[in-house]
Amino acid sequence: MSKGLTPRPAVQKIAPYHPPTGGREGKLRLDFNENTVGCSPKVIEYLKEKLTADALTVYPEYVDAMRELAAYFAVAPGELLLSNGTDEAIQVLMNTFVDDGDDVLLLKPSYAMYRFYAELAGASVREIDYAAADLEFPVDEFIAAIRPSTRAILIANPNNPTGTGINLDAIRRILDAAPQAAVLIDEAYFEFCGVTALPLVRQYPNLFVSRTFSKVFGMAAMRCGCLFSSVENVRWMHKAQSPYSVNMLAALAARAAIQDRQHVANYVKEVLAARELVYEGLRRLGIKFYPSQANFVLFRAGERAIPIRDALRDRGVLIRDRSYEIPGCVRVTIGTRGQIERFLGELEDLWAR
Ligand SMILES: Cc1ncc(COP(=O)(O)O)c(C=O)c1O
Repeated sequence: MSKGLTPRPAVQKIAPYHPPTGGREGKLRLDFNENTVGCSPKVIEYLKEKLTADALTVYPEYVDAMRELAAYFAVAPGELLLSNGTDEAIQVLMNTFVDDGDDVLLLKPSYAMYRFYAELAGASVREIDYAAADLEFPVDEFIAAIRPSTRAILIANPNNPTGTGINLDAIRRILDAAPQAAVLIDEAYFEFCGVTALPLVRQYPNLFVSRTFSKVFGMAAMRCGCLFSSVENVRWMHKAQSPYSVNMLAALAARAAIQDRQHVANYVKEVLAARELVYEGLRRLGIKFYPSQANFVLFRAGERAIPIRDALRDRGVLIRDRSYEIPGCVRVTIGTRGQIERFLGELEDLWAR
């Protein structure tokens, strides 16, 4: 019998990442920062109309999607790479610009897939901690950590799970300090904060900006995202990307989603109002929280972090434990005011026990 195969050292070393996506059906899902009401009904109508056997026989073709998405985001089609979610955008960026042993600079805690894809590429990863007191972006310390050899820098703005953001001046300082590195600003939660580095793409050849249809647009299952950079960078990344990685339904759904701006605007308004309710509720209970620029709030449940998460789950409300990266902290996704009232009602009841 043969001994079996040995994977690449990078794969052997990598920590497995299995987010708890099982058993969520029918529960109030405040655990993955998804849209809690669903996508625009226009997306469903459009998909139904387009879903024919004939349409499924052909390999996807992106010309219309590219034109419409570029117009929506106010970029040229050549400045946009369509991706199978932000996750593929991160992977393509790594595959294009990062080699075995290259220096990649991240923050901690942040979106887990940055480290995942950097390690998969065989990079040497360094992480700078968010400021302990308020979880703000450690701008000076971060800039001081950039090396001439740094090949990639990945930043979520606003950051998950802290909810804190970085302003455009600080982003510019980072871009100026790392002209040799691919700097990704991941704007998965952009619509909830309104700060974007996208217009800087034409000034900075080292800047990459990503957006997703998984959050405010309510289409996480579709796996669709956009990565923006200079025409030249996008051309390189195209070479490193599979030609059909975005499926036809995802591209159609994205086209329909951007037509319904009102649906997105209404949802953002609702979430921002509900976020205030969460702040008030947590204050009432004397629970420390970190003010957020996104559709989630991180709060300190201390020793009770995991028991509270579990007890809420028993009552049909899902939130996410983050205590393994920020001691005592859990994260709640902000949904509608009605959903947040339910969450707060259950939390108040449990907290008093
Ligand atoms: C900062 C950040 N970027 C990207 C994503 C995922 O995006 P996508 O579903 O487009 O891969 C998440 C999801 O939690 C996130 O928090």
